[in-house]
Amino acid sequence: MAKPKSAFTCSACGGLSSKWSGQCPDCGEWDTLAEAPADLLQSARKGFSGYAGSGAAVQSMAEVALEAEERLGTGMGELDRVLGGGLVRGSVALIGGDPGVGKSTLLLQVCCTLSETMKVLYVTGEESLRQITMRARRLGLPDRKLLLLGETQVEAICGTAARERPQVLVIDSIQTMQVADIQAAPGGVSQVRESAAALTRFAKQSGTAVFLVGHVTKAGELAGPRVLEHIIDVVCYLEGGSDSRFRIMRAVKNRFGAVNELGVFAMTENGMKEITNPSAIFLSRPEEPMPGSVVLAVWEGSRPLLVELQALVDDSPADYARRLAVGLDQNRLAMLLAVLHRHGGIVSAGRDVFVNVVGGVRVVETSADLPLLLAVASSLHNTPLPSDLVAFGEVGLAGEIRPVPNGRERLREAAKHGFRRAIVPKANAPREKIPNMEITPVRHLREALEAI
Ligand code: TYD
Ligand code: MG
Repeated sequence: MAKPKSAFTCSACGGLSSKWSGQCPDCGEWDTLAEAPADLLQSARKGFSGYAGSGAAVQSMAEVALEAEERLGTGMGELDRVLGGGLVRGSVALIGGDPGVGKSTLLLQVCCTLSETMKVLYVTGEESLRQITMRARRLGLPDRKLLLLGETQVEAICGTAARERPQVLVIDSIQTMQVADIQAAPGGVSQVRESAAALTRFAKQSGTAVFLVGHVTKAGELAGPRVLEHIIDVVCYLEGGSDSRFRIMRAVKNRFGAVNELGVFAMTENGMKEITNPSAIFLSRPEEPMPGSVVLAVWEGSRPLLVELQALVDDSPADYARRLAVGLDQNRLAMLLAVLHRHGGIVSAGRDVFVNVVGGVRVVETSADLPLLLAVASSLHNTPLPSDLVAFGEVGLAGEIRPVPNGRERLREAAKHGFRRAIVPKANAPREKIPNMEITPVRHLREALEAI
């Protein structure tokens, strides 16, 4: 029999390779491969026919018992919305975000409110219990019943939680936690992954709803993002510019609801406040219409949202013109400017083009294409668009305007906020009239430019 060759496993993703290399071929992490016991490789090669089968029995779907899924309201409607209708027993939700964005504040508020009616345990590895209590007092939260624990050892936390049996457990933050068997420092990929895995096992076994707080690195990723995201049930990010008091929470993964559902909050001196009518906030515009400004109706999760988009086109002082997009995709901006040139006859070459979505919102939808080009044209000609105009629509490479989903709801939202004119894709024009709204359906970019 041939001598078994050695095997290497990756400490980040657990991938197996027969050769050593500096970078893991599976997950792309550097310097994570280490020699593994040779029998691991051998059993991987042997296949599974030799195994006796696990103890669990196969069931048909009809046999699987379903208890009605119980949702716990968090007392914050916007958070419930992102979670898909409230907390689920035995689930694990990660709240990610930059340090200082307000994760601890938000969860402290939620925990204090929930602790009035159920047992809640808040575990912190970052702040002292005194600091947390002082903050809760200052915010005037009901703080008498919330249980606090200052601990970073995951086994100890699970032990305490198993004794105390809270219905909700918060871990602030996952980067400060460590499991005993692993030598690596807290915050590293293996500690974060093993800690999250142990806490997830605890959540499933005990039926506790667990919140994990996770800090995002500069590059916008949680430490060990890939390894975490598939273990846990819900991943949401809390975002907000440092210059803006608005905070936006978005689910990027949710096993119990829709993703991309958006919750909006404001950080005030009295903690995080929910914003239940976000369109009204993002639209606080000056009275005078300004060149380069337009309002678009985007679809966020399950509701429309009106946001202002601004464009500034200026002669470029440099040899090459700059295209900068804040809150929108940079590459898409370059592509749309090419369409504007080719099919709208408007030249932006040699000029800097800056576009910005006001209020720190990030628009990922293609419905921003048409308003973006209208804003660019408006800035270039230094002519304001009417302040009661709203627009949406996807622009194709041939200059055609394509429909987007939920056109009627977007128009209704705009009408509700006092908009009287709309430029929309032909296929999105509603059959029955929307009261007090003049709608201009367009099929091609040229028609839209003529309309303004
Ligand atoms: P925090 O919740 O500690 O952030 P994270 O846990 O995400 O790191 O929020 C800290 C910031 O929030 C800090 O810069 C101060 C600000 N803040 C307020 O503006 N108002 C408040 O009522 C509180 C408690 C904090
Ligand atoms: Mg914190």
